[in-house]
Amino acid sequence: MDVSGKTILITGSTDGVGRYVARQPAARGAKVLIHGRDAARAKALTDDIQRDGHAAPTFYQADLSSLAGARQLASAVTRDHKRLDVFISNAGIGSQNGGAGRQTSADGHELRFAVNYLSGFLLAHLLLPLIKEAAPSRIVNVASLGQHPIDFDDVMITKGYNGSRAYAQSKLAQIMFTIDLAEELKGSGVTVNSLHPATYMNTTMVRAGGITPISTVEQGGEAILHRVAGDDVAGKSGLFFNGMNEARANPQAYDAAARKRLRVLSLELTGLSA
Ligand SMILES: NC(=O)c1ccc[n+]([C@@H]2O[C@H](COP(=O)([O-])OP(=O)(O)OC[C@H]3O[C@@H](n4cnc5c(N)ncnc54)[C@H](OP(=O)(O)O)[C@@H]3O)[C@@H](O)[C@H]2O)c1
Repeated sequence: MDVSGKTILITGSTDGVGRYVARQPAARGAKVLIHGRDAARAKALTDDIQRDGHAAPTFYQADLSSLAGARQLASAVTRDHKRLDVFISNAGIGSQNGGAGRQTSADGHELRFAVNYLSGFLLAHLLLPLIKEAAPSRIVNVASLGQHPIDFDDVMITKGYNGSRAYAQSKLAQIMFTIDLAEELKGSGVTVNSLHPATYMNTTMVRAGGITPISTVEQGGEAILHRVAGDDVAGKSGLFFNGMNEARANPQAYDAAARKRLRVLSLELTGLSA
């Protein structure tokens, strides 16, 4: 897909792999919408893109640890744009950001579930009219190989919390949502896929976990960009990729009853079912 002139939103693009991903379509003439919490980091990225001779991206500031933040981001994008060719749901926190203990979002939800999954679920739904308007268009959910089945009796992990499980649960939730949404969007011209970009890239979340990086943001970034613009990806939907290759996710992802439970819960928690 030629991204020139296309409108592309990438959440969590002020740092890490998102920052790398945002620069590439900007260099190829896309209208890039960057997002993060920190205006100074967004300005540094904008300056870098302009210094390379490309059009400045538009920055949207929103904290996705509250559903109000996700709603505010969706309304700002909807106010400014009539169509969205690509939505990359990339913003996230790792297993240890903010410490090893259990944390909650502004809405009282377990924080990794809220930031990594629920905000992307809400954003995708609120942005769907714009995304459908641009069909053929693409949604890319940046998930992970780190996946843990959801315990529907304790989704917010009030018992036996640990950061790795919370992170991995949120990442599997993204993959389950991807499969579900792909079914819902059949025939609409909108495809949605999820991927593990690369293992332990050298990013803030990996360093915060005390982990020695083994991949670069370029490696993971190229895998994400392939989902965005690869011609062989056109028409493919509901799939999970490990880097460049299609892969199997945790078995719970293929359990239609579990996906339905997650969908019903997510619609309820985000207020979309009302
Ligand atoms: N690193 C890896 O090896 C790896 C492996 C598999 C999957 N992934 C996935 O790749 C994605 C990007 O990770 P990364 O390693 O690039 O992380 P990163 O360097 O820590 O960057 C995270 C990005 O998300 C944003 N973000 C974090 N919390 C936010 C919040 N509450 N509200 C709004 N934005 C928020 C950050 O914005 P601020 O600038 O405001 O902090 C930043 O732009 C994540 O979904 C992650 O799970 C990463």
